[in-house]
Amino acid sequence: MFADIEALPPDPILGLSTAFANDPRADKIDLGVGVYRDADGRTPIMRAVAAGAQRSIDGETTKAYLPPAGPEAYNTGILDLLLGADHPARGDGRAVSVQAPGGCGALRLGAEFLKRAGATRIHAGGPTWANHKPIFNAAGLSVQLHPFYDQAERTILFDAFLDALRAVPAGDAVLLHGCCHNPTGADFSAEQLAAVIDVLADGGVTPFIDYAYHGFADDLEADVRLARDVAGALPEALISYSCSKNFGLYRERVGALVVVGATAKSAEAARTHVLNIAREAYSMPPAHGAAIVAEILSDAALKDAWSAELAEMASRVRGNRRLLVAAGRDVGLGNALGYIEEQRGMFSLLPVAPDAADALRTEDAIYMTRSGRINLCGITEDNAPRLCEALAKRIDGRVN
Ligand code: LMR
Repeated sequence: MFADIEALPPDPILGLSTAFANDPRADKIDLGVGVYRDADGRTPIMRAVAAGAQRSIDGETTKAYLPPAGPEAYNTGILDLLLGADHPARGDGRAVSVQAPGGCGALRLGAEFLKRAGATRIHAGGPTWANHKPIFNAAGLSVQLHPFYDQAERTILFDAFLDALRAVPAGDAVLLHGCCHNPTGADFSAEQLAAVIDVLADGGVTPFIDYAYHGFADDLEADVRLARDVAGALPEALISYSCSKNFGLYRERVGALVVVGATAKSAEAARTHVLNIAREAYSMPPAHGAAIVAEILSDAALKDAWSAELAEMASRVRGNRRLLVAAGRDVGLGNALGYIEEQRGMFSLLPVAPDAADALRTEDAIYMTRSGRINLCGITEDNAPRLCEALAKRIDGRVN
């Protein structure tokens, strides 16, 4: 049965990590997969996370299954982080959370739920994260991409995006990035978010908000503005949440799907379907990541320590944006990379064509996706000059 199966090409993002690990060149630079790295190029275990992990192991009394939705303390902690403890949707019982295996697992649960609820299509601004389309397609939804970002001008095409949003038929869903847009780093302003919500409030279209980088744009409060405003203004929404980046819990696979329903009854009914979808796929969620997050979020001092560490990490990434732009100026790129300083989160798109990204990888040992997406975390004081010299040879001439 398997004899004639053709091997697939490597994943456009994850494949870079394997290629990077196998590259023997000492001066290689990894700007590929979205993982935080410090100034020494390491992905450290956050101190608050190490403390939370120790506490969760010390307090563990059984290896019996978790409840299908995951621990209550975890789900309450996620709802508190995302919506706040006093959000009216919480008071009305309209918001429920289900633990999911990572943000990716949450997206898939939400996609399958949308399909069950009768949706056939989800709309998104393009470009979007390379794995969004495969996830929604796998759940049986088609993905319709609309203008969102002009890569040549490095700006959000807001009017075109809003026009496309107005034309989305009732019964469809629309995918929004909570903050730190992946891959562009181009986030809507507060005014633009308000305009998006106004259009959605006209009815019938369900927003699905993807939060994978909470805390990396401005701060933990400001970054969840979209989730809070949507849950306040609209009857229904789905929100996928990842703890991979902001807790540094990549390999634990911990995230959540939050469902906001028109009423407490419909939210609870939706929750039963999400749990049923999870039952069909993997039954119960894994324990460790959620236990660590629950320990942190339920202890005020540990939560403060975590939030301070996260703020330091976010600040380092913002510093790397400035470092890259300055290093670009030093090698004669002028203001060609200046826009990067205005963008947010781990990623920005460089004005390099796919074959230039290939050449940067094969000839200069600089790894980025073929779309020109870079993870700013991989930049250091040491490698920024060499990176910019290589970029100066390859960068799209239009920006010089
Ligand atoms: C990324 O975009 O690099 C991360 O979200 C990791 C992934 O799964 O693609």
